[in-house]
Amino acid sequence: MIEKTFVAIKPDGVQRAIVGEIISRFEKVGLKIAALKMVWVDKEFARKHYAEHVDKSFYPGLEAMITMGPVVAMVLEGVEAIALVRKLVGPTEPKAAPPGTIRGDFAHVSYGHADELGIGVKNVIHASANPEDAKKEIALWFSDEEIHDYDTVHDKHVRK
Ligand code: PPS
Repeated sequence: MIEKTFVAIKPDGVQRAIVGEIISRFEKVGLKIAALKMVWVDKEFARKHYAEHVDKSFYPGLEAMITMGPVVAMVLEGVEAIALVRKLVGPTEPKAAPPGTIRGDFAHVSYGHADELGIGVKNVIHASANPEDAKKEIALWFSDEEIHDYDTVHDKHVRK
């Protein structure tokens, strides 16, 4: 039940200086930051992260967006963390993301708008979609030594 998931605050989120506000939302629900770093990814790395999307029509815009500046990458840990983080982050398309979610509160653009311009959807953040993606993405972005095992005060309430 205790899971680790991968999250990246994308270049648009970093450039808008909302990193602290976003991380704070994860901390407030009791998620543990198991790993954290700033990385400016290149096109080769982008193709690995978005491997299943490289042949899609929107990929050039997606690649340009994820390589346009540094991202803040992290591993978050908690009870059923993968689904919990997706709930906090909200739907991928900001237009569809409800208020209260990170994308709903900090972004507003649509796929239609991005595709018309051939630009990436500035949706602030990426979060692993499922356990298989979480495993792959954590291994792609972090070495074992960068992922830390420690106690937070929340562990007292999570453990029996
Ligand atoms: S998710 O959140 O990974 O499950 O989203 P997914 O639907 O698989 O989409 C993967 C990334 O591709 C971007 N995307 C698009 N960009 C432009 N136009 C269209 N139509 C489009 N569809 C998907 C989307 O922003 C996802 O990036 P991340 O980094 O996951 O948000």
